Amino acid sequence: MKVLCFASQKGGSGKSTLAASVAVAAQQAGERAVVVDLDPQGSLAEWGRTREAKGIIFREIQPAALVRWIADTRKIKGVSLVILDTAGTFGPEVDTALKQSDFILVPVRPSALDLRAARPTVERIEALKRRFGFVLNATNPVTQGRTADALAALEAGGVVAPPVADRTDFRDAAASGLGVTEINPTGKAAAEIVALWEWTKAQMETTA
Ligand SMILES: Nc1ncnc2c1ncn2[C@@H]1O[C@H](COP(=O)(O)OP(=O)(O)OP(=O)(O)O)[C@@H](O)[C@H]1O
Ligand SMILES: [Mg+2]
Repeated sequence: MKVLCFASQKGGSGKSTLAASVAVAAQQAGERAVVVDLDPQGSLAEWGRTREAKGIIFREIQPAALVRWIADTRKIKGVSLVILDTAGTFGPEVDTALKQSDFILVPVRPSALDLRAARPTVERIEALKRRFGFVLNATNPVTQGRTADALAALEAGGVVAPPVADRTDFRDAAASGLGVTEINPTGKAAAEIVALWEWTKAQMETTA
């Protein structure tokens, strides 16, 4: 069982959005996934309630109960992937999630402000000696040059996943408890999320 965490101290970077759609793409690729909302804001709760009927288990867990819950879930065997969505404010609760993770995806929006704001997140992850990758999220499909600049800036600080553009499929999917690969399976958002999942899976499988 692998534990994948979405973390970033920058609010609105896309943790919950990407966690939901990556979970669905992973499930479609054969994983038995559980999505855990650790954010007291409960952003994924409504999505999760709608989702429950469609094959992905959803849990809202208090951060204090996480270590125990993961240990218990490992014993069940039926779960191959746990996806943790965390709060945008770091502290002991998010540390607990980071420590439990095999890999952490750090969504970053392509602006100078957001690129700078990623630094404390990375420092915390590195202090805890966890593996992570950036994912450039909500890029403008029209301004490719800006995306390339932002990718180059991120590459200076760590490994970088395939980027995800700003697309309405994400908003439509969230509203109906779906992933983008379900709401528009042939869309560009779906292709990007599949690429993100495949990249992330490969990262989790390498032990180095
Ligand atoms: N790739 C995208 N395309 C379109 N909209 C997006 C994309 N990524 C995120 N959004 C939108 O941006 C907003 C913030 O995203 P989200 O809630 O996932 O961020 P977050 O990192 O979880 O924030 P918080 O730190 O508050 O939990 C949401 O309204 C979401 O629909
Ligand atoms: Mg969130």
